[in-house]
Order: sequence, then structure tokens, then C-alpha cells
Amino acid sequence: MPYAGLHPSYGAFPAHMAYDPVGFAPVFYEEQPPLKSKGSGTISAPRNKSLASMPGGQLFPIIGMKKRAFQEANPDIKLVSLGIGDTTHPIPVEIAAAMSAYAEGLGTWERYEGYDPKIERELKQKIVEVLYSAGNDNNLVDPSEVMISDGSKCDLGRLQFLFGKDATVAVQDPAYPVHVDSSAMAGRFTSFDEESMQYRGMTYMPCTADNDFFPDLSLAERSDIIMFSNPNDPTGACATRSQLQDLVDYAREKGKIIIFDAAYFAYIKDPNCPRTIYEIDGAREVAIEVNSFSKLAGFTGIRVGWTICPKDIKFSDGTAVFHDWSRINATIFNGATNVGQAGALAVLQNMPKVIEVIEYYMGNAQLIRETMEGLGFTVVGGQNSPYLFVHYPGRDSWEVFDELLEKCHIIATPGSGFGASGQGYIRLSAYGRKEECILACQRLKEFYGRRT
Ligand SMILES: Cc1ncc(COP(=O)(O)O)c(C=O)c1O
Repeated sequence: MPYAGLHPSYGAFPAHMAYDPVGFAPVFYEEQPPLKSKGSGTISAPRNKSLASMPGGQLFPIIGMKKRAFQEANPDIKLVSLGIGDTTHPIPVEIAAAMSAYAEGLGTWERYEGYDPKIERELKQKIVEVLYSAGNDNNLVDPSEVMISDGSKCDLGRLQFLFGKDATVAVQDPAYPVHVDSSAMAGRFTSFDEESMQYRGMTYMPCTADNDFFPDLSLAERSDIIMFSNPNDPTGACATRSQLQDLVDYAREKGKIIIFDAAYFAYIKDPNCPRTIYEIDGAREVAIEVNSFSKLAGFTGIRVGWTICPKDIKFSDGTAVFHDWSRINATIFNGATNVGQAGALAVLQNMPKVIEVIEYYMGNAQLIRETMEGLGFTVVGGQNSPYLFVHYPGRDSWEVFDELLEKCHIIATPGSGFGASGQGYIRLSAYGRKEECILACQRLKEFYGRRT
């Protein structure tokens, strides 16, 4: 029998079968697949229908356009950005030096390494030791459950392959856009509603002042997957131990899987707010934790992250989710850069230096928070997170963005760009230089101080 290829779960399949590249559900043809035309294009392969129904990502292109237009009209005005979603502080020299030394070693016969560098095993061990210790030589996870990756955004994309196309998803509203868009690309919606700017068939769980920025979990009744970012981007809110226990209890009772995005865990100061979901009883049965060195240690460009998939999580047919997750990674991922992993190991060996940088950003966060609160605004976040969500009741987020740009010469990020429930809010970020943050706060005081 002629074989057309290899299917990830079904093995070799014959020429009269194809598979849906998104849901990985086999498609059977009666005989041969139909001949398709390339139409007005250059290829015959049909477009992924989910991608074709998705609107363009508008938030950051519009911000860029408005910024350029303002700067062209006002070339002498120095804009200050409180809209940065990227780290800005140099990484500690010890970490840079570890990467240089590793890179130099690659130029020698003795220390050259290709696939599967030895350092990866050491890094997994160290991640567990430093970040998942439960004290008394007990750990919350096993090193074999840690998958080293090239960052959490990439893992969020790859995780979508774990579930069938018919698996439904619930997202926080507002949400980190990748949670929504990666789910949409995987086909977890029926259509896009232009008016509400939401996907039908996806569940949006509002996180607002009314519920202390923690969602009503019962909304996820019909969703198989719950995407949860904590501390949250964009609101900066951070769930307490009892809130996370509610989340895990709900997931266990109803059989949901939680994709727990902890990219900002290192900013959590409140001892009542767990830094990992595995501090919560029962989480090992229902939660995958996606994490990263990006915001922990300025690795947004170096690209190293990790994901924990506990071996206790089982699909309804009894298969360990870990089994399929390993298979996905072995097939479409070839590991994080070895130089980056050497840097990541150095991060965990130099935590006091890493924490100094986080404290630098948190100093900015405190300054912004005190400034905005002093001006009478209600502010969420900035205490366990580098992001602050500032409320402008009754106002449109884009109108506030324009006001900040034109009157204060500050770039911010409109809350509504992260989802309908972000309307009336603006996200301010603590990334950036302290001097610029001080300047931004002076400008805010000058403009809003006049109102009172
Ligand atoms: C909530 C959240 N998750 C994940 C990421 C992506 O991080 P990484 O650089 O590890 O891909 C970001 C980046 O801004 C984020 O805000």
C-alpha cells in the first residue's frame, strides 16, 4: 500500500487519507484527494480556515502608527514610554560571562556540543531545586517533567497541538493576546463577531473590579481548557492562594485542564500569592505551567523558557498528557540554544543579582502606582507585577491613550486592546529606565494635578 506520510498518532497512513493539519483528525477520501486549483495564487494548498477568519492583530500596529504620526508632527517633543512589554535593563555580568564562556567552548573539540547539550539536564535539575522546592528535600515537580524551551510564547503555541480541534477554551478577559490567538489558530472557535471583537465558541471570563480581577469560574462550564496568566498581563492582578485553590478545585471537579502562564512569577512579593500553581493541592492532576527566563532575567532576546507537564495529568482515555507533550516536542522542537541554557543556569546560580534587576523595575512600578493613586486614580497591579492597570471610569481606553500621548507625551497601552473588559483602563509598564519613569510621573502630575 502506498504511504503518503506519517501521522503523529495514527502512524503511517495511506494515500487516500489526509489529515486536518489543525485538529489532527484524519480526513477520509473515498478514493484519491480531489485535484485543487491554485486559483489566483501560486499554490493549491488551501488556507488554514481558522487563520483566514481571524482579524489582524491591531493593538501594537495602531500604537506604532499613532506614535509615528505624533513624532512627525512634533519632532522636538521627547516621548516617554510607559507602554513597554519588554525588559530593558542589562543582564548581570555574571550571566553574560557564562554565555560567552560557553560560546567560546563551542569553538573547541573538547567542549563542542550539538543537539541535547549536557547542560540541559543540569538546568532542569537547577530549575526544580531553585524554583520548585517544597523544603525538606522535597520538590513540587520532578526534573523529568520540565521541558526546556525557547520561551513561553512558543510553548503556548506548541501546547495547542495537545488537544483535538473540538476541545474548547476559556480565556481571561482582558487576556494576554497569545492565549486568545493561539487558541483561535488551533480552530477553537466557530466565527468572529466584528461587533464585540470576540470569537464565538470561545469563553471569555471577565476579570474586573467587580470580581477583584479573578474570574467567575462557572463561566468555563463548557470549556475543556482554561488559560490563566498569573500575575496577569495586562491587569497586573495576582491571585491569592485561596483563589488558586478554587481554580484547581474547579478544574479537578469538572475535568478541565489549566494552562497556567506564570511568566511574571518572579515579581510576586506577597507571601499569600503562590509563585507556582504546584503550591496548590491537586494542581499536579490538572495544570500545566508555562514559564520563562524572559521576564525573570531579561532573556526576551536570548530565548529560554520551560514548561512543567506533571505525569499525573491524564486524558479521558487514560493516556498521560506528558506522553503526547513529549512526542510533540520531540517532533517539532529541537531544544533551546545551548548558549542560552548556559545563561539560564547562570541565572539560577546568581539569583541575588537577578532579584536586584527585578527590584529596579519594581521601584518604577511603585513610583507609577504612588503617582497615579496620588492623583486620585484607582490602580490595580504594580505590587506583584511590573504592570499597572489604571482606571479611567466612563472613558474609552483609546481616548485616554490619545490624551496621554498629546498632553503628557507618554506612550501607554489601551486596556481595551486586551479584551472588552479592559475598556476604560490603560496599562502602564514598569519596564524602562528609572529617569524616564520619573520624567513620565512628573508629566502625569503636571497634567492631572491641574484637574484637582
Ligand atoms: C503573560 C505572558 N506570557 C508569555 C509571554 C511571552 O514570553 P516569552 O518571551 O517567554 O515568549 C509574555 C510576554 O510578554 C507574557 O506577557
